[in-house]
Amino acid sequence: MRAVAAFLLVLCYLAVTHAWRCSEGPRLYNARQIDAGQGKVIARDTSGYVYFLIGSSWHRMTTIRFNHASIGPAGLWATSTSGNRVYKYIAGNFAVSSGLSMRQVDAGGNGQVVGVTSSSAAYCLRSDLASSYKGSGSLSWSNLSRVLKYISCGKYGCWGTDTSHRIYFSQTLSPTTCGNSRWSQISGSAVMVEVGTDGSVFVVNSSGQLYQRSGISSRSPQGTSWTTVSMCMPVRHVSYDLGNLWVVTTSGLLMKCTH
Ligand SMILES: *[C@@H]1O[C@H](CO)[C@@H](O)[C@H](O)[C@H]1NC(C)=O
Ligand SMILES: *[C@@H]1O[C@H](CO)[C@@H](O)[C@H](O)[C@H]1NC(C)=O
Repeated sequence: MRAVAAFLLVLCYLAVTHAWRCSEGPRLYNARQIDAGQGKVIARDTSGYVYFLIGSSWHRMTTIRFNHASIGPAGLWATSTSGNRVYKYIAGNFAVSSGLSMRQVDAGGNGQVVGVTSSSAAYCLRSDLASSYKGSGSLSWSNLSRVLKYISCGKYGCWGTDTSHRIYFSQTLSPTTCGNSRWSQISGSAVMVEVGTDGSVFVVNSSGQLYQRSGISSRSPQGTSWTTVSMCMPVRHVSYDLGNLWVVTTSGLLMKCTH
């Protein structure tokens, strides 16, 4: 399997001729999900183990298995495979919180944490509550009254996808109050959306095709159109931070791409 994977990657480099230049990332077999923020990179494998990138090697952070992990201005947050419980990384350990269970969380916004439950209800944790949480007591999540399957926030707002793969954007969600989210549907279809802290937006559709949102700026926070980022293999998950686009393929390979 590993030999096959390496061979596929070689074919991949030969085939890639677009604006992003990709190479194999630091080697992590059976990668499933990746998240990058504030210069730090974490990845999760098919067993649910979360790894932290130091130099060119991955270091397993805990023996707890997670469904999703995210790192950003709000810190490092994750949801467990067993029971979708929400954890915050504190002083070298993952501390479990009481309060709502989430299937996916995102720490990439302006200090707030956003997440979706297993019944696809979207929630937000105010930036003051997220930053001061010390590992005890219940977290008080605000209901965003929106059905979303995946949610991610960044500089110009929050993006989400629903169970029918529709894409939504909210420019107004307040990180300090979690109020005022007004969502508008954006053209296209996607199963996941990741927003870099700088506002860059990437989506993956159900066929594993990757797109970047073009034309995003403070005057046009929702951007203008989708641009295909051609990859030689179907993509499962992506994350972008500080010039690096991290790509996990459906076959579990990890790639690092730069412009
Ligand atoms: C939260 O909002 C969802 C709609 O997304 C709704 O179905 C659910 O009942 C709300 N939960 C609470 C506790 O109000
Ligand atoms: C995904 O993207 C590919 C390439 O643009 C397209 O052919 C396909 O129809 C898209 N699939 C969905 C479900 O959006």
